[in-house]
Amino acid sequence: MAKKIIKKSWAEPFKIKVVEPIKMTTREYREKAAKEAGYNTFLLKSEDVYIDLLTDSGTNAMSDRQWAGMMIGDEAYAGSKNFYYLWDNVKKYYGHPYFVPTHQGRAAEHMLSKIMITPGQYVPGNMYFTTTRLHQELAGATFVDVIIDEAHDPYNEHPFKGNIDLKKLDKLVKEVGAKNIAYISMAGPVNMAGGQPFSMKNLREVYDFAKKHKIRLWFDATRATENAYFIKMREKGYQNKTVADILKEMCSYFEGLWVSAKKDLMVNIGGFLATKNKKIYEAARNMVVVYEGLHTYGGLAGRDMEAMAIGIEEMVDFDNIRARIGQVEYFGKQLEKYKIPFVKPIGGHAIFLDAKKILSHMKQDDFPAQTLAAEIFIDSGVRGMERGIVSSGRDPKTGKHRYPKLELVRLTFPRRVYTQAHIDVAVESVASVFEDRKKIKGLKMVYEPEYLRFFQGRFERL
Ligand code: F0G
Repeated sequence: MAKKIIKKSWAEPFKIKVVEPIKMTTREYREKAAKEAGYNTFLLKSEDVYIDLLTDSGTNAMSDRQWAGMMIGDEAYAGSKNFYYLWDNVKKYYGHPYFVPTHQGRAAEHMLSKIMITPGQYVPGNMYFTTTRLHQELAGATFVDVIIDEAHDPYNEHPFKGNIDLKKLDKLVKEVGAKNIAYISMAGPVNMAGGQPFSMKNLREVYDFAKKHKIRLWFDATRATENAYFIKMREKGYQNKTVADILKEMCSYFEGLWVSAKKDLMVNIGGFLATKNKKIYEAARNMVVVYEGLHTYGGLAGRDMEAMAIGIEEMVDFDNIRARIGQVEYFGKQLEKYKIPFVKPIGGHAIFLDAKKILSHMKQDDFPAQTLAAEIFIDSGVRGMERGIVSSGRDPKTGKHRYPKLELVRLTFPRRVYTQAHIDVAVESVASVFEDRKKIKGLKMVYEPEYLRFFQGRFERL
């Protein structure tokens, strides 16, 4: 007789050993806290937040092995043994022989941009990331978005919305000449597109193109294991490969890569740059001493490098990555039940609510995503972040707002931190705000910092 039970559920491959109590607050309290924070979720006090979906960056729960590793930090100024363990694991899992640690991802972006870019050059990329593009621009480059059009359409179900459009890339190269391209900057999955991956097929095509035109190809491998997981689940020929194999194949097409270790590696701080190019390595090793610290610690403590090295071994575990992406998927499936619009397909690290659609009665100049993030916090203490006109900033040439097509609120899932019950509470809060959406009015900006204004900008209710 055929069995009636179908086993299709997964559960986390770990259990809870230590807990961190969180404060429960009232709506009245949160109303006040939001106002004091200038309706900017970055300016809230973390202790006033109930479920923190601001970011998955540095907010992950380390394993008992990682915590144990913290106790064997070798805090020597030079040549710490944790550095060599980390370097070995970078070689083993990312496959690039040269390595420079940094305190976090943007420090690697800073050095790379300075080394690679001659002012006046161009950097094409598969959609921008805030810090990545800013460092490219500060080094004198113009960033050009060459991601496929599907990525700008929140409802297009393309399985690899992180792909580069070869025609757009070719057009740029024809216009400005290959010599004026500093490098191609490819991220996977693409954070701002909704955590969407690129395919190995697309990467190979980009690699062939870059090789033919003698253009360098660099990888923002910050969440690369998520990209590898999507390739395994979605791309023909990869079902039987391990996440580690796929990660290594992906990295093999690049001249070098940089990583914010605060994501995939499940640590609270850290980053690095790795490359096959000895000259670039030597330039970075020289520069790291100026900006970060000696090349064997790069602004990190020995214990941080130990936790990173262990994190690399844990991040490629299939059950671990399935549970991580599975939680995001669960959240998305629940939202669908309430018909709440968000970016499809469900991405790797976050759900991106479509604030443009949810608050369709508002103008983009009244900051719909900023408003929606504030309203969700006020409703329940769930903290997300704006990824729309505020994050896009101003055009450096015209000084005008950039008007991105996507006006989103990102709800991001720290790794190994929240339970399914937390997720259910967050879903109900979003649904409740969604129900009352027509009553919501916008915001006006009352303070605007020069760089990365989304971090410190302040707003008032209209
Ligand atoms: N690249 C990507 C794709 C990122 O998502 C981030 C950070 C960085 C680079 C910069 O790394 O923060 O260590 O300096 N993203 C965080 C986020 C801030 O919330 O998405 P960092």
